[in-house]
Amino acid sequence: MYPKGGIAFFDSGIGGLTTLSACLDYAKARNFSGINYYYYGDNFRAPYGNLSEKQIFSYVDEIFSRFQALEVSAAVLACNTATAVCAEKLREKYPFPIIGIEPAILPAMRGGGEIFVLATVATCNSQKFQLLSEQAKLLYPKAILRVFPCKNLAGVIEENFGDRNADYSALLPKGNPTCVVLGCTHYIYIRKQIEDFYGCKTIDGNQAIAKRLFDILFEGKNRDEKPLFCEISSIASTSEPLVTPAKNSTQSSKIFFLGDAKMVNKTKYEQMFAVK
Ligand code: DGL
Repeated sequence: MYPKGGIAFFDSGIGGLTTLSACLDYAKARNFSGINYYYYGDNFRAPYGNLSEKQIFSYVDEIFSRFQALEVSAAVLACNTATAVCAEKLREKYPFPIIGIEPAILPAMRGGGEIFVLATVATCNSQKFQLLSEQAKLLYPKAILRVFPCKNLAGVIEENFGDRNADYSALLPKGNPTCVVLGCTHYIYIRKQIEDFYGCKTIDGNQAIAKRLFDILFEGKNRDEKPLFCEISSIASTSEPLVTPAKNSTQSSKIFFLGDAKMVNKTKYEQMFAVK
């Protein structure tokens, strides 16, 4: 039903659509076209942030088997929680490149001041996150790092999607940070509310992921050459898949929405990011 060989994006729900959008902007700016993208949001089992590591791995692994059957060129874990908990195990198991998103603690700490990190409970508790925090503190000893596990924020953002008047202030930790790290892709939807609440800037990992993804796909290749995925992405579909033209694309890039929540994510993507 779906063409093979595209780039897969995974998130527990709608958060990863922000990552997909950032990657499409990045590709567009560099004239990378004719690419197939898949988006798998596991919305009906989200939020993941309060689940056990075992449960999160089992859900993500199930979805990655599907990516493997699609012979994806690469998979993006557009979910800080899934990256923190299972990126390494997935890399051991699957043959394609896996690019994970991490809270942008290092660039935030580089600027000094008091840095707030908002992330899910599972992300904050993970070994990967603890190592990243330790590394950041060693590198930038003058900056102050404050980590806040947010138990319900991602779930509430998913529920309130599209409600511009929703008030998140009761769910945000109090204080006067210099910069806030959005350590969950869901939080990017309420960037403005968070910036207004604290009166400071925010930072996320989407730009870094876009660069990393296309660097990996073009590795060792002239940037004018077609990347690997274009050569294996032409299997015709036999029935009508859920497709929407990729943002701003004058050529044939397409997004295929997968999973039980594919209609939800397609609609939300179109609402938020597609050019009308
Ligand atoms: N969007 C996800 C993240 O970046 C997870 C949200 C959740 O399901 O708890 O961490």
